[in-house]
Amino acid sequence: LQVTTVPTWQSAPEETFEGASAVVFDVLRATTTIAYALAAGARAVLPVDGPDAARRLRAAHPDWILGGEVAFRAPPDFDLGNSPTQYTKAAVADRTVLLATTNGTRALVAARGAARVYAAGLVNARATAEALPPELPVVLVASGTVGMPSLEDLLGAGAVLAHLMLLHDEVAGDTLSRIALETFQATRAHLPDVLYGSENGRRLVEAGFGDDVAAAARLDGVPVVVELQAGEPLTLAKSDPGGFRAPI
Ligand code: MLT
Repeated sequence: LQVTTVPTWQSAPEETFEGASAVVFDVLRATTTIAYALAAGARAVLPVDGPDAARRLRAAHPDWILGGEVAFRAPPDFDLGNSPTQYTKAAVADRTVLLATTNGTRALVAARGAARVYAAGLVNARATAEALPPELPVVLVASGTVGMPSLEDLLGAGAVLAHLMLLHDEVAGDTLSRIALETFQATRAHLPDVLYGSENGRRLVEAGFGDDVAAAARLDGVPVVVELQAGEPLTLAKSDPGGFRAPI
């Protein structure tokens, strides 16, 4: 299995995704929030590449929930922000959620040309690794923060890669994949501390969203597989795990 890791979503030319499974990580917080929303029973989460595009879609579908952030906070006309724990059963069960965030939902839109597209965080790393089709190369997209790499997204990539190595006899990772893997292995016993100490973790604490960091650090705590469906608008839904299993 061939695995490539890209350090920001902007650094992956479109051809990177051709014929591959793309796994997009925005651990703090978008892809973690998406996992929480679908685990809470949201029908679908629609990743959108900006608040205005989300507003336009919502104008056409007033029953859809509008969520996301600009500079960490929900704009006043949004129903929900980008905190994973806001996406409770009471808030989102059986609802369609539009999500517009600074990096994560844009990264998902950018990866749309891949053969398969998954949204993952630490919370669903193992479930995602188990669902990846073994016949396709894998591109791990550590979304990063406005064009710069983020520690927590590389840790997410490392977590998926660690599980892939348990599932497959031969995994060939590029150098950044090795870095992500080694970093994850070295820190997996104290992920909450590492996330709180990361640049984005500290920014979130300063903005009053410290609990979101703990919610994102729950390794395999929200074991849903989140996959992009065919068609327009872009739609993420829970997909049955049941993909590839290592022979016993
Ligand atoms: C993003 O998409 O850039 C992040 O999820 C931002 C945030 O933490 O709200």
